[in-house]
Amino acid sequence: MEWPGWSPNVVVTATDGSDGSLRAAHVAASIAKNNAAKLYVITVVRPPEGWWGIGGAPPTATALANALDEAQHGVLDETTKDLDTEGIEVQTVEELGDPAATIIGFCTEIDADLLVVGKRGAGLIERFVMGSVADRLAHYAPCPVLMIP
Ligand SMILES: Nc1ncnc2c1ncn2[C@@H]1O[C@H](COP(=O)(O)OP(=O)(O)OP(=O)(O)O)[C@@H](O)[C@H]1O
Ligand SMILES: [Mg+2]
Repeated sequence: MEWPGWSPNVVVTATDGSDGSLRAAHVAASIAKNNAAKLYVITVVRPPEGWWGIGGAPPTATALANALDEAQHGVLDETTKDLDTEGIEVQTVEELGDPAATIIGFCTEIDADLLVVGKRGAGLIERFVMGSVADRLAHYAPCPVLMIP
């Protein structure tokens, strides 16, 4: 990537279906369009707590497939349905795992130029100004991160 005259070729937005992540997706789509960049929209499903705990049975293949299906049909549809992505290439991605670690791994793998996320997400705990996923991305993402309030 050239820093002087920087313009992104690969833009990633991460969504959990929250209002903040929908705003982030609009910003990401707009930036991608203005730069004729490829846009990836990723959602990560976190396996329910306890599935991996001591004595807990690992999730069945069917349970995992159902969790992924839910993400695919709910969150990704909701996020992309109103996006203006005319003329650019868009790819939706759903993964299973820890959200921050998975998003960081994905950005590294595809050599993302820009990651756009909400400052807050779907979490119900209002203790912090910034959500824990946003916080970890700000600290550890391999590319510039744009946070949308
Ligand atoms: N599971 C996920 N898959 C994809 N992107 C996510 C996911 N969770 C969060 N994000 C992204 O990170 C942004 C911030 O969400 P975050 O989860 O950090 O906030 P929160 O839900 O308010 O807080 P917390 O999860 O710590 O309770 C979201 O707007 C979205 O862009
Ligand atoms: Mg969250």
